[in-house]
Amino acid sequence: MKIFDFSPADHCATYAERGWVHVRGGLTDEFLAAAQAQVAERRAAGPLSGQGIAGAKEQFVFEFAEAAHYEELFDAVAAMCGLDRAGLTLSERHIKSYEPDAAPYPNAHKDRFASQVSMGLSLTVPEGSHLVLYPENDVWENPFLDTALRDSLEPDRVPEVVLQGATEVAIHDEPGDVVVFRGSAMWHLRRHSADTVNIYLKFNDFGCDPLGEDPSTARRREATVAALAGSVDGCVPALARRFDSVSREYRREGWPERLFAHVWGQNRFPVSEDEVAVLRAVDGRATVAELGLDLAAVTRLARRGALDLLP
Ligand SMILES: [Fe+2]
Repeated sequence: MKIFDFSPADHCATYAERGWVHVRGGLTDEFLAAAQAQVAERRAAGPLSGQGIAGAKEQFVFEFAEAAHYEELFDAVAAMCGLDRAGLTLSERHIKSYEPDAAPYPNAHKDRFASQVSMGLSLTVPEGSHLVLYPENDVWENPFLDTALRDSLEPDRVPEVVLQGATEVAIHDEPGDVVVFRGSAMWHLRRHSADTVNIYLKFNDFGCDPLGEDPSTARRREATVAALAGSVDGCVPALARRFDSVSREYRREGWPERLFAHVWGQNRFPVSEDEVAVLRAVDGRATVAELGLDLAAVTRLARRGALDLLP
């Protein structure tokens, strides 16, 4: 079973120019029917919960039926959006089922940093429900992996202010449609979303997967743990898929300065300046030996989940 019924490369120029694409009937009939069936089954199993998953929407992780589906998705995103195929990561794969009482006119938002490309697969779209994109105004990447963006903005920078008079693109999608846009950069929202059901897929080509929803993220972690049993000299270190950031902190009891690494799914842990230098040096291409990295630092960061070790 194929997911898509169109040639992604045909939309490459449009995406490059506008930053969004709407493909009517872009899903195969088979995939649409199978996805709708999965929603019906999963509805009975209870909502997805966890750090970073918020909002007035019922959400589930969508399970693709075939391993080849992930390859098809990555091929499509690379061809359509010009992303680096080798680095592509699927950072979310959620079914979103909007509540019957969802606010009809929500504020616009940007998706998290890991959503370099956001893709919506429309499954159920009641009359009037539509996606609104702002592709031309205040387009900049949300740097946050969590929900901090809104609170970080001064009152004159919130979307309700900066989007006054902005160009709105209203996408009245139908079941079987595919919408792709720069999710972390463009403000967007869904109006009259009640009872709409979509699969939302988020992609980036920089190995970022805070929720660990790319099936290869767990495999990478297992391979890293296995590599730690031997010599790491010949391994290629990369920022771990679930690594978020390093912060410098001053606690009120005497204001001691501390550095902390933040990795999704675990508490922050202290790191040294030298370890931060290691995190900044890795590029996912050169080996530990080639970069001349401190073995103890690499080992500790990998054990703690801040680095992945690739063969
Ligand atoms: Fe969004």
